[in-house]
Amino acid sequence: MLIRLFFLLGLIGLFSCQNQPYKQGEIMYKNFCSNCHMDNGQGLKGLYPPIANSDYFQKNKDNVPCIIRHGLHDTILVNGIRFDTPMAAIPQLKDPEIANIINYIEHTWGNGEYITIKEVQEALKKCP
Ligand code: HEC
Repeated sequence: MLIRLFFLLGLIGLFSCQNQPYKQGEIMYKNFCSNCHMDNGQGLKGLYPPIANSDYFQKNKDNVPCIIRHGLHDTILVNGIRFDTPMAAIPQLKDPEIANIINYIEHTWGNGEYITIKEVQEALKKCP
């Protein structure tokens, strides 16, 4: 009985560990992004661009860590719609948190491509 209980606890532990980065990404997204880009990633018409199925996101993947850290002051086209409201920098997010947020977005609304912390750090060295 006790052995079975330990086995079960072990399984639960393993499961929750594997899901942790994704879970953290979701929590971080809700805390730092969904105010503007919304819980469902659709943004707000005319003001905040969508993150979900965004062609801009997919085409500028290398630059997304920079957008999160330094913000974006540009006129951009997202899925054919023009946006020019600036996005403020979010400098308090650490490199692994940026990776987790991007992986959450990719998993939920992108093509599921995985980014490592190292890749985030490489991208951050090349910010425009
Ligand atoms: C205060 C509102 C606000 C918050 C919070 C915010 N953004 Fe943005 N975001 C914007 C706006 C506005 C733009 C368009 C910027 C421009 O046109 O230059 C944008 C653009 C983007 C883009 C490029 C366009 C697209 O939709 O693909 C990405 C990627 C992005 N944000 C990701 C994030 C992530 C990830 C977070 C959270 C870590 C976040 N943003 C938090 C307002 C916000």
